[in-house]
Amino acid sequence: MVAQWWRNAVIYQIYPRSFADGNGDGVGDLAGVRSRLPYLRDLGVDAVWLTPWYASPQADGGYDVADYRAIDPAFGTLAEAEALIGEAAALGIRTIVDVVPNHVSDEHPWFRAALAAGPGAPERARFWFRDGSPAGEPPTGWTSAFSGGTWTRVEDGQWYLHLFDTRQPDLNWNHPDVRREHEEVLRFWFDRGVAGIRIDSATMPVKDPAFPEVGESADHPFLDRDELHDIYRGWRAVADSYADGRVLVGEIWLDDPHRFARYLRSDELHSAFNFDFMMRPWEAKQLREAIQSTLDSHAPVGAPPTWVLSNHDVTRPATRYGRVDSSFGFNAKRFDTPTDLARGERRARAAALLTAALPGTLYVYQGDELGLPEVEDLPLDALRDPMHFRSGGVDPGRDGCRVPVPWTRDGVSYGFGDGAPWLPQPTRWGSLSVAAQDADPASMLTLYRSALAMRRSLLRGEEFAWLASAEDVIAFARGDVLCVVNFGAEPVPLPGHREVLLTSAGLDGDRLPTDVAAWLRV
Ligand code: GLC
Repeated sequence: MVAQWWRNAVIYQIYPRSFADGNGDGVGDLAGVRSRLPYLRDLGVDAVWLTPWYASPQADGGYDVADYRAIDPAFGTLAEAEALIGEAAALGIRTIVDVVPNHVSDEHPWFRAALAAGPGAPERARFWFRDGSPAGEPPTGWTSAFSGGTWTRVEDGQWYLHLFDTRQPDLNWNHPDVRREHEEVLRFWFDRGVAGIRIDSATMPVKDPAFPEVGESADHPFLDRDELHDIYRGWRAVADSYADGRVLVGEIWLDDPHRFARYLRSDELHSAFNFDFMMRPWEAKQLREAIQSTLDSHAPVGAPPTWVLSNHDVTRPATRYGRVDSSFGFNAKRFDTPTDLARGERRARAAALLTAALPGTLYVYQGDELGLPEVEDLPLDALRDPMHFRSGGVDPGRDGCRVPVPWTRDGVSYGFGDGAPWLPQPTRWGSLSVAAQDADPASMLTLYRSALAMRRSLLRGEEFAWLASAEDVIAFARGDVLCVVNFGAEPVPLPGHREVLLTSAGLDGDRLPTDVAAWLRV
């Protein structure tokens, strides 16, 4: 039996462009990541997931891949990627890479060939080229995940489908080349030692070829279609052909927990991100419900639950939890939303202990271990995200959670690199840097290090039991370790215990103050 390391792993998400810049050009790179691997070992992570590092025009932060077998020159070379995988492994850190099956870049050779070949050519069949209506309307009125329509018209009059940006043409998964190519890409990276694949937009690749409008037929024309499961069974066979077991992790945004769990059946994906928990507001009842429904939907398929507080697409928790509406929704993002950062940080600390205490896989997005807030006052001309532009400037976009990480108290980019960073950093970055937090017993970084170390030694199993508690309190036991979080306005007495292991802020005698989490040993 292959050790199922991912079941209770801590997986750290690296957004390479913003993690560390090794060559001083202002853009993070693989040399930067390699230089910081000891930091990740000391933080206590089991694996890193890197968002796309492939050759790309970077129209959507690398989620527009032009060549899956090459590293983007801004990040480095294939040899450096191989070195990184090996060096990480030597420190006990596995590597997960991102694969984007729904679409490629408009600079991918397949799409260039499709454009050059013209209507009806076999090269077009790997994508969704269609004629519009005689009146010049696109084939459907679908809405893009990035706002606006999903079709772009080319010079010869045909339209091509893109569920995201114009520069991300969707692949036709009915085409045998598409399926074969992706299985080969998986093997290419597994052969280079990666331990797993994160599957981007995993519910979107298959389309209804009749192209109905949304709501016109019983199934959704492009979300969660049944044909996907066969594709992922094929991928699972590829992963399982490696004796040490490689892992498939799906990016699955679905409201229905049972539809979600279908992707986690034993011959499909090993694991998937749990966005339900991430989207809920900071309220005991809501989060308790999300935890229970997550445990309930995962148990029958035997997959480990996962816990995610943020990623490169969403508002940082230190900011989100400081708002009147502390839930997350893409459509709700607006400039100038009032935020109480002190409250947000206090809650983000408690949230870190809450999620780290739950059974299953924990994801940590780079910078959350420093308590970085969302940067919401970036100059408009610095913004890059197509989500911002396609919304007509209404949605601030996702650049605010992608600001380069601060490593030192000062310097041109707070130790990110030797050049001016690709997104400007706030002056607060110095005090939030790794150097500033490193030796401070009260820092977020110290809290994360302590929590991950304790999690590794004390929370190894998958046992979980709710404890009776007040409505505004979440309390559960993991063996002889209790986790208690107070969401209410008044301090509450701690349950009986022998030892206080860790708290997210100071206790009030034997009482747990508002927005504080505690780990106790009984
Ligand atoms: C996923 C990625 C996001 C990207 C989108 C299109 O949601 O996380 O960053 O923009 O897919 O590939």
